[in-house]
Amino acid sequence: MSVVANWVEQGLSRRDFLKQSGALGLGLGLSSLLSFPGLAAACGMDTSSKAKNSSEIPLLSPLGVQDFSGLKDRVSKITWPQLCQHIGLYEGYVKKTNDALTQLATARTTSDYSTARTLQLNHSFARNGAILHAAYFNNLGEDQPTIGPLTAKLIARDFGSEAAFWGELMAIAKAMRGWVIVGYSTAENRLVHHGLDAHDGGSPLASIPLLVLDVYEHAYMIDFGTNRAGYLDVFKASIRWGVVEDRLKQALAVANTLNHHPVV
Ligand SMILES: [Fe+2]
Repeated sequence: MSVVANWVEQGLSRRDFLKQSGALGLGLGLSSLLSFPGLAAACGMDTSSKAKNSSEIPLLSPLGVQDFSGLKDRVSKITWPQLCQHIGLYEGYVKKTNDALTQLATARTTSDYSTARTLQLNHSFARNGAILHAAYFNNLGEDQPTIGPLTAKLIARDFGSEAAFWGELMAIAKAMRGWVIVGYSTAENRLVHHGLDAHDGGSPLASIPLLVLDVYEHAYMIDFGTNRAGYLDVFKASIRWGVVEDRLKQALAVANTLNHHPVV
């Protein structure tokens, strides 16, 4: 959890979040923090219902403190109605994650292993759907257009050139059905590309996401129709490289800890 919490932009562990919010020990419900009424309302969504939680269950709070309020202002080449497609899904995944956690807490006390298995898989799917969307939203924008020096250094080291980096990335982006990720593999100590056909399938272990690209059709059909290549060109020009650089620094810190020696 700490790796994920460090990676996700502005992410906090549940404990840290509770400490910082002053809620630790007060039993304050988190339901109001698990959705984004401002953004959802801006997308024309019903914000009257909230996830029901119990303070006894490890909720998806790190994503609940995400602030995507700047998304609309910093993205001009993808329309707000298009972005709203994701926001609705994101909110659904947050709710489904917490629903699965709640139901798992009950299922684990019984011998209903079939139900527990289904819920466990549902949980992974929904949680990754929320995590990946949060990362995508946060690395999307036109306000940080310059590749950071550490990112550029590792692209050159691990791919040979920026052109080779993009060539491999875009080839994966045209092939996959769900996500494309630039990660830092703590197993290989290098940048890696990988593609996912679903939220919970295709991502190798020990890779910390640095740049997340949504290639599901809901990510581009309104603005680009079936022209995925056009969407990919816009995405390439709408990357917040400062966010990527920060994630890379955090990933290297994790890698250095795991490997007990400097990797860069
Ligand atoms: Fe999406």
